Amino acid sequence: MEQLEEINLLMAQFCRITQISVALQAVTFLLVPELINIVVCDRVSLSYRGRCTYTWRHVLVGEEDPGDVDIYDTARDSIKDQVKMASRISSVEVNPSHFVRTLSGVRMPKLIYGTAWKKEQTEDLVVQAVRKGFRGIDTACQPKHYHEPGVGAALKRLIEEDGLKREDLFIQTKFTSLDGQDPARIPYDQNAPLTTQVQQSLEASLKNLGTTYIDSLVMHSPMRTMSQTLEVWKVFESFVDDGKVKQLGISNCYEVTDFRQLFAAARIRPSVIQNRFYKQTRYDKEIRKFCKENGIFYQSFWTLSANPHILSDKKVSELCYAHKQTSAQMLFAYLAQTGVVTPLTGTTDPKHMEEDLQVLDMPELTPQEKSVFGKLIGDE
Ligand SMILES: NC(=O)c1ccc[n+]([C@@H]2O[C@H](COP(=O)([O-])OP(=O)(O)OC[C@H]3O[C@@H](n4cnc5c(N)ncnc54)[C@H](OP(=O)(O)O)[C@@H]3O)[C@@H](O)[C@H]2O)c1
Repeated sequence: MEQLEEINLLMAQFCRITQISVALQAVTFLLVPELINIVVCDRVSLSYRGRCTYTWRHVLVGEEDPGDVDIYDTARDSIKDQVKMASRISSVEVNPSHFVRTLSGVRMPKLIYGTAWKKEQTEDLVVQAVRKGFRGIDTACQPKHYHEPGVGAALKRLIEEDGLKREDLFIQTKFTSLDGQDPARIPYDQNAPLTTQVQQSLEASLKNLGTTYIDSLVMHSPMRTMSQTLEVWKVFESFVDDGKVKQLGISNCYEVTDFRQLFAAARIRPSVIQNRFYKQTRYDKEIRKFCKENGIFYQSFWTLSANPHILSDKKVSELCYAHKQTSAQMLFAYLAQTGVVTPLTGTTDPKHMEEDLQVLDMPELTPQEKSVFGKLIGDE
């Protein structure tokens, strides 16, 4: 009975992908030969690790063929759909070791997918990145460079189509001051007091992203004066008090004294700093040291584009050869293994998405291998 076999195979595939309990699989298959008629259980729900629920017309087929081929077809198509969906969700199941725990207790991915400059491609690329295994998304309430509603549309799709839950994802956005906005597209009232601008920016982000909370809110850059920076930070802190934001951070802060001052004055301390990782600032050596001492994570951007000399370095090439990895992967691996840096990648290439994620499963580099990079970035 071909149809029965096909259905059984599909069921086995489904159980394997979803790792549904062996018991259920056994029950399914034990029952099959004993059933006399086709039993159609409408809307059987199975919990997959207690996180998502599959509902389908679950068909157990008996040995005796009632001759109703339609039911086989319905069963096969229905289970096929479920296998397809389960494959997607399974493929984005990520290893717990791919995350760090920040000062604020937030579970943050070690590698974050950045969405700058992706315009109308944002939605599809974010969906693709999450399906590949990314769990952290970086955006900003800054229409000049980011399409925040595209991230929101991707989240909606992932929740509806893939059964992901909001809490499975780490969403980071930014407040961008007037200095960083396109005057024609300011996402808040530019004439309102600063505090109101920050509040309106967060409300716009929540709306764009279709969420009730943000995992990480980052000040896109320090304000013109420290007093303004602290004023914005106080508003940020009120968002944490209200449960709208889980952790705070700052970006483009290259003076360690400014960072220290913010850290000292803050009631809720920065959990992350997001900076350009390049030679001109000596790779923020002092800032990274301060981060290490205080449990703060350093999110690097321009990691690849600003460092072609590292990527093409002879010793790095030798490491690539030994590890069968690209130089981009080796640099990301080194940084992720410092325990302080959580790099951002904004790749638009599906192969690079996979390669970037593989980095998190690479074995620990030896001290000598780490030293190759340590020397290149002036840490040694
Ligand atoms: N706070 C800020 O002011 C600020 C500023 C800039 C960026 N950011 C954030 O950081 C994110 C990343 O931006 P980024 O400036 O670092 O650049 P990026 O968008 O990650 O692009 C870097 C380049 O690296 C390539 N690439 C990525 N993975 C690769 C791999 N495995 N092998 C080879 N090439 C690879 C990409 O090409 P392919 O697309 O072909 O892979 C791209 O050309 C942004 O999306 C944004 O979220 C923040």
